[in-house]
Amino acid sequence: MLEDSLRTSLLALVGKNETPFFALSLEKLKQNEQEFLQTARLYFPKLRVCYSVKTNQFPEVLKALSTGFEIASLEELRLVKSKKVFKVFNGCCKKEKELEEAVRQDAIVIADSFSELEKLNAVRKKIKRKALKIGVRLNVASKFGIELSKIPEFLAKAEHCNCKVVLLHAHPGVQNSLKDYESFLKDFKAAVKLWDFEFLDFGSGFPSFPKMNSLGISLHDFLKVVKKELGTTLDDKIIVFEPGRILVADSMILVCKVCAVKELNGERIAVLDAGINVLQKIVLESFEFEPLTENLGQKRQFKLVGPLLFGNDILGTTMLNLKENDLIAVKNVGAYCASLAWEISYKKPKVFVL
Ligand SMILES: Cc1ncc(COP(=O)(O)O)c(C=O)c1O
Repeated sequence: MLEDSLRTSLLALVGKNETPFFALSLEKLKQNEQEFLQTARLYFPKLRVCYSVKTNQFPEVLKALSTGFEIASLEELRLVKSKKVFKVFNGCCKKEKELEEAVRQDAIVIADSFSELEKLNAVRKKIKRKALKIGVRLNVASKFGIELSKIPEFLAKAEHCNCKVVLLHAHPGVQNSLKDYESFLKDFKAAVKLWDFEFLDFGSGFPSFPKMNSLGISLHDFLKVVKKELGTTLDDKIIVFEPGRILVADSMILVCKVCAVKELNGERIAVLDAGINVLQKIVLESFEFEPLTENLGQKRQFKLVGPLLFGNDILGTTMLNLKENDLIAVKNVGAYCASLAWEISYKKPKVFVL
């Protein structure tokens, strides 16, 4: 349930703005950040946390966070340029301009291929740096990084290019179960045992806090698995995490309106002014629909659909008593929704800060 003060703030925004719109709670964002930092520090005192900028690059989000950043493009580098914090630059398609800007910002470039070493060497020479400290992405069943068996060759080539590989990185993919996470760590462990890196960067893949609650698991459970799997090999290492959705997912709410209610083939249908153009399945988050205004009367099943002239613009079902002009708060939309929203027929919803 939305807290009363949050509901009041959202209704105040509705009074002045057209729906649909996003509302960003900086309070929630900071709360998530603190929870993540405090929990992770319990397990890893030598910790660097790099917020994954692509998850939500709204300037107020980047401004509010005290973390470092995981960056994936020139555009993202520009967004965090003024912040002198620990940065890692990731990606499998880095261009020369991006590499140069990343190096100028003292980000640790996480190399994804052998040829990137040559590009980095050219950048190093161009901007007259004697040597570079870089990272390497370990391939873990994906299109990214370098296979475990080729890491020795990679390290030798890096040395030849005046690049010292100080960081080992891998990312387990999205919204992991504890079991998936455990098997990802086994792959990571194989490399950690063989070479001595200063930084071990585990990427992220943590579900959002609401998702973890619904699954009855916590961040402690994930971090305990890291300790269990890697044990003493972690001693003296600086541990890096690149959280995205766990920090931002529930820091944003989408406010939308029921624009039409109808019965069709025995189903009650509520047409909202935001659909799959804003709430995309690829985001892999559990959106929650809650009425913003009083929802009295008998609750009935409604199919929630969006405004697009696409038959598959369907968001799900809900048990409510919906009428036209009712306002709906959609929760857990802070990760990826704003950046991935399509501009088809409608503009992207604006973002307001609460
Ligand atoms: C390399 C890397 N790090 C961090 C993240 C953020 O992951 P999450 O949203 O699971 O926290 C991503 C997301 O795809 C990623 O690709």
